[in-house]
Amino acid sequence: MIAINDKSILSVPGPRPLPIIGRAAHLFCFAKDSIGYTCQLFQTYGSVVSLVQGGATNVYSPLPHCPGTVFAYGPECVRQITSQHEIYHKYPLSGRLYSKRHDSKRTEPLKHFGAGLFGVNSFTHRQHRQLLMPAFHKHRIASYRDDIVTITQSVLEQLQLDKQTDIAQVMRLLSLRIATKTLFGNDVGSQGAKSAVLLQEVLALMSKLKVVLLPFDIPGLPYHRLFNSMAQLDDEMRSLIRCKHESGTDDKDVLSMLIQARDVETGMALSEEELLGHTSVIFAAGHETSANALVWTLFLLSQHPQVAADLLDELESVLQGEAPTVAQLQQLPMLERVIKESMRVLPPVPWNGRVTSQPTVLGNYTLPAGTEVFLSIYQTHHMPEIYPEPERFHPQRWEGFEPTMFEYNPFSAGSRACIGAGFAMMEIKIVLAMLLQRYRLQYLPQKRIDRTGIVVMASKYGMPMIIRKQDRQFTQGVGGVWGNVREMVQLPK
Ligand code: HEM
Repeated sequence: MIAINDKSILSVPGPRPLPIIGRAAHLFCFAKDSIGYTCQLFQTYGSVVSLVQGGATNVYSPLPHCPGTVFAYGPECVRQITSQHEIYHKYPLSGRLYSKRHDSKRTEPLKHFGAGLFGVNSFTHRQHRQLLMPAFHKHRIASYRDDIVTITQSVLEQLQLDKQTDIAQVMRLLSLRIATKTLFGNDVGSQGAKSAVLLQEVLALMSKLKVVLLPFDIPGLPYHRLFNSMAQLDDEMRSLIRCKHESGTDDKDVLSMLIQARDVETGMALSEEELLGHTSVIFAAGHETSANALVWTLFLLSQHPQVAADLLDELESVLQGEAPTVAQLQQLPMLERVIKESMRVLPPVPWNGRVTSQPTVLGNYTLPAGTEVFLSIYQTHHMPEIYPEPERFHPQRWEGFEPTMFEYNPFSAGSRACIGAGFAMMEIKIVLAMLLQRYRLQYLPQKRIDRTGIVVMASKYGMPMIIRKQDRQFTQGVGGVWGNVREMVQLPK
């Protein structure tokens, strides 16, 4: 039986506040390198830890009362947190910023942007998720295959051989174009694309620390720029939605589907505000995530020549230089294993953030209502009890190995698991299959590869690589990697 310590969050172990600067130093360390810092905490204090002993920290929660911040990992914590939706509530991407939504007319768009599925819980979440599901149905996803292939083809054609290129930028552009086309029905240069670019700007500003630290609506500050861009985006999106409404046709994009969606019981449609919220969250959740999964996988392949060679053998034998059809995607087991293993070692989304809606027990501790809980996908994926030699990139480990959804969860688990997982897997598979048959990406030795980001784990300085024609010279560019990526994955010297 679990021993319940019913005092408060004070009971969750963690480092002491420092003299004078108190909790600020810990908050700073977490914001600077969430994975590195929490790895140390987990090693010192166990699988349920507090950012600071005694709590009273607030990183994410928009609620006025936040007793503290807790980090947790391991299958049992994943099970408890992802299956108790009434207890573990989710808030929009930037919770603290979200709390300003009632401040003034200018901050009002915060009510919908960045909210969507992320901003609803309990019954409303179930209801909205059901409305959104048809847009992510297997058949619907398959219908995006041709668009993904066309856009990938056009991006690959523009790459210059034997030149140093930031692959992170290329993947960001590629996934931006795919998200724009599938979400709004438009590729670059259209009204939908303008909304997508604005949306990207808003999301980038929202994640800036300066926006939270300097919340003053004064020209020159990012906070002011954020609300200017949000107002513009609001106008653009509303006119896009009205155009689609008036045309009444199904443009085969997600937004059109959401406009037509009706609740089975009440027949209610989504309001304009809800549509704005859902499209912005789907866009936010679906574009940087896939781009980073691709970047990390390409990096890992550049350092594992045998895996790269075996994967190319499989791709060429099944596809013979062509882009995969939906049916062929099922015939590429090695590709599937490479992606799974890449998202295990370097998960693009390293954390699930939640806020407790009532007192609860996690591990051996009682958490008061309002406690922020960050569940570490990264740390769970690096448990030696589940994954022997966890830092080894070893796609073969997936042969006949089926961990539970609480042991392996790059897309999270339970009823809040990623709604776009099927779409993401198809997109990543198609892009890799097309790119690797045409090019070999060569790592540039001595370039630092450091992680950054809390919501999405990205490579801090991009991913500069040389683009070679696919010549199977996989040992070129192997080794010499610098940076803290070496803490997460074993790499050749
Ligand atoms: C490799 C790519 C992706 C990864 C690793 C990923 C990961 C995740 C994770 C871990 C969550 C749960 C977050 C949490 O509850 O704290 C999530 C939720 C979500 N994802 Fe993804 N995602 C990816 C791609 C996509 C794509 C392509 C879309 C849409 C086109 C998408 C849409 C969403 C949405 C709407 C949610 C919220 C679900 C809910 O709260 O019910 N994601 N994703």
